[in-house]
Amino acid sequence: MTIASCGVIGSGQMGSGIAQVAAVSGLNVVLQDISAAQLERALSGISRSLDKLVSKERIEASVRDAALGRITTTTEVGGLASCDLIVEAATENEALKLQIFEQLDAVAKPGAILATNTSSISITRIAAATQRPESVVGMHFFNPVPIMKLVEVIRGLDTSDATYEATRAAAEAMGKTVVVAQDAPGFIVNRILIPMLNEAVTALHEGVASAEDIDTAMKLGTNQPMGPLTLMDFIGLDTVLAIAEVLHTNLGDPRYRPCPLLRQYVAAGRLDVVADGTGV
Ligand code: 3HC
Repeated sequence: MTIASCGVIGSGQMGSGIAQVAAVSGLNVVLQDISAAQLERALSGISRSLDKLVSKERIEASVRDAALGRITTTTEVGGLASCDLIVEAATENEALKLQIFEQLDAVAKPGAILATNTSSISITRIAAATQRPESVVGMHFFNPVPIMKLVEVIRGLDTSDATYEATRAAAEAMGKTVVVAQDAPGFIVNRILIPMLNEAVTALHEGVASAEDIDTAMKLGTNQPMGPLTLMDFIGLDTVLAIAEVLHTNLGDPRYRPCPLLRQYVAAGRLDVVADGTGV
């Protein structure tokens, strides 16, 4: 299976990062979003990120220019009809993803790989929204996509060997190291990371320490590049809560219960634990 073109659904932080690394790897990229204004913002973000990589001498200016020249945008899912690989990177909401995969099934060409960048939702369930579950696979990138080296490839119950192998090869061509995970809630990274972040916000909630000291402790005590509360802000509190809910619901163990303070912050629309967080 040769992959020469890549569609990306959703042009937020993750979608634009995926479009960028796909274009740098030589694929023709079609970036889709329902919002034309968001697509504009995504293109400027990709341009800024590529400029940064040029200024750090990680890529040549000619690579940046060629990559930018390979990205087009569309507001219609139908604009992805000719893509060999389509990576869905919409909001972490199961109903939305199921609806997108139903639409994709109707428009994608036969044999196209339909990948989802979901951080925790079952690949098998997403695949069941299509008539071609053998072509559906998880392709989980990490933020910031141009910098983070990992991609988790997740096989659903019916993902074919050909789909898995071509997805793995595409991720490696994007310069990523691939790990393979079973279709279990949170896969590998979020199964371990989200409970740690949830514990950090629980420690804040219980008044164990200030937000600043929790972050300093974990940064200097365990050599993490960012403290857990800063990392939660970086991922997005709503996304962290959505993944925590999936772990709690699907693993069924009370130890995965999302911290009430995290729920409150998301309910209040607060985006930043570190700036606001003094616990209770
Ligand atoms: N594009 C291009 N370059 C970028 C970039 C981007 N979007 N973001 C950062 N960089 C570059 C910087 O230019 C810099 O380059 P240099 O090392 O050559 O100087 C380098 O990355 C480091 O950036 P900064 O100096 O600005 O800042 P830091 O040293 O603090 O690093 C960080 C920033 C890479 C984000 C680092 O703090 C980090 O690794 N944090 C943890 C990130 C993490 O854990 N991500 C995973 C989240 S979980 C996830 O995504 C899964 C999901 O399902 C929830």
